[in-house]
Amino acid sequence: MTEQLEFLGIDSVTIVVPVGSGGTIAGLITGWTYALETVGRAPPIAVEIVGVCVSRPPEELRDSIESIVRDCGTSAAEGVLRPTASRCHWRLVDGRGAGFGMADIHDLELVEEIGRQTRFLADITYNGKALRWLRESAKQLSGAIVYWHTGGALGVVDRISDRSADWEAARIEEFNQ
Ligand SMILES: Cc1ncc(COP(=O)(O)O)c(C=O)c1O
Repeated sequence: MTEQLEFLGIDSVTIVVPVGSGGTIAGLITGWTYALETVGRAPPIAVEIVGVCVSRPPEELRDSIESIVRDCGTSAAEGVLRPTASRCHWRLVDGRGAGFGMADIHDLELVEEIGRQTRFLADITYNGKALRWLRESAKQLSGAIVYWHTGGALGVVDRISDRSADWEAARIEEFNQ
């Protein structure tokens, strides 16, 4: 990512990522705070990582994320990792909305709209919630924005197959009437 940002001449970026247990964001924070010895000069990119909590209130997650980052960072003392010159800030926001794994009509409309316009698939549980937060909050963010997509393809398949099951059931009912 640093190489791509450098290539594009970007020196300030907000990264938005969904947060469940916090492992993914902890990896991102660690990656921006430390670098492998083998990686060359770390570019002085100003980074803010925004974790959109989809399952638990942000205040329940901060300590465990900090502890994962600290544990990963201890390798720095052993010379495997070294602090980078990047400035990395991070914060957590509440993106639970209708509840973990629950979607309201706006969540459903958003993932459908994104899928139609970009062919970019988003599951409801994680990426749908984080993208909704991003859409509602993008105006408050400055600099370049990177959305860190965490996958979730199985969640998409699940939703689509549920929808086609409903669709089929409705057709059968229509046929029987
Ligand atoms: C698609 C997807 N995105 C995000 C997450 C959350 O990741 P983490 O638990 O590392 O915060 C999960 C967790 O299961 C997931 O399945």
